[in-house]
Amino acid sequence: QSIIAIVPAAGIGSRMGADKPKQYLMLGQQSILAHTLDVLLSHECIVQVIVALHPQDQYFKQLPQAKHPKLMQVIGGGERADSVLAALDHAMSINPCAWALVHDAARPCLRHEDINKLIGSLKQYPQGAILAAPVRDTMKRSDANGLITNTVERALLWHALTPQFFPIVALQHNLSKALAANVSITDEASAMEWAGVMPGLVSGRVDNIKVTHPDDLQLAALFMSQS
Ligand code: C5P
Repeated sequence: QSIIAIVPAAGIGSRMGADKPKQYLMLGQQSILAHTLDVLLSHECIVQVIVALHPQDQYFKQLPQAKHPKLMQVIGGGERADSVLAALDHAMSINPCAWALVHDAARPCLRHEDINKLIGSLKQYPQGAILAAPVRDTMKRSDANGLITNTVERALLWHALTPQFFPIVALQHNLSKALAANVSITDEASAMEWAGVMPGLVSGRVDNIKVTHPDDLQLAALFMSQS
């Protein structure tokens, strides 16, 4: 199976409060995005990596990975889903029969072990699957005033992580339809669910965190140092 990795990296990371987009903040020797790209570019099953960048991106061309023969760039869009769709449109022109492995730029601690687990789930989940982590805490639903209305059954709840793994044709079709219908899409699986598909859940490593707030940088550095 031919696999094209898609990396939405067009966000500005406003929750980070930094002077540049969070994917370009340093984590040890290189930026968050550089770490993420290294993991994907070095995986033998991934034939191409398409990265979606902000139209005014000043930083990407300075990365050593920018000239890697497997790497291609596209201009992203206003929301994460628009950026993914721009990359999918490009992937369709390369090989519509391939599968897309969509992974957030801001998750640099991804391991090959988890990519292999997800790719290996294809037989079990022929319509696609995502990495996910079972919820550990007791879950509460609140009303608008912050009062608990009830406790939500935890056993069936998962955190959706990335990568998310789907056939390019199906994902491009469902994502473009869902966006045109103004459906709120925060990950690839939600576009597939909207179209009636039930993607599989593949339990992933808990260190595959998304760097969102300043504290996450220290945690990511710790996880990276343990590899
Ligand atoms: O902001 P958040 O952490 O949810 O973004 C997840 C990923 O989506 C990040 O890697 C970010 O760069 C990317 N993104 C994008 N295009 C946007 C917004 C976010 O590629 N318009």
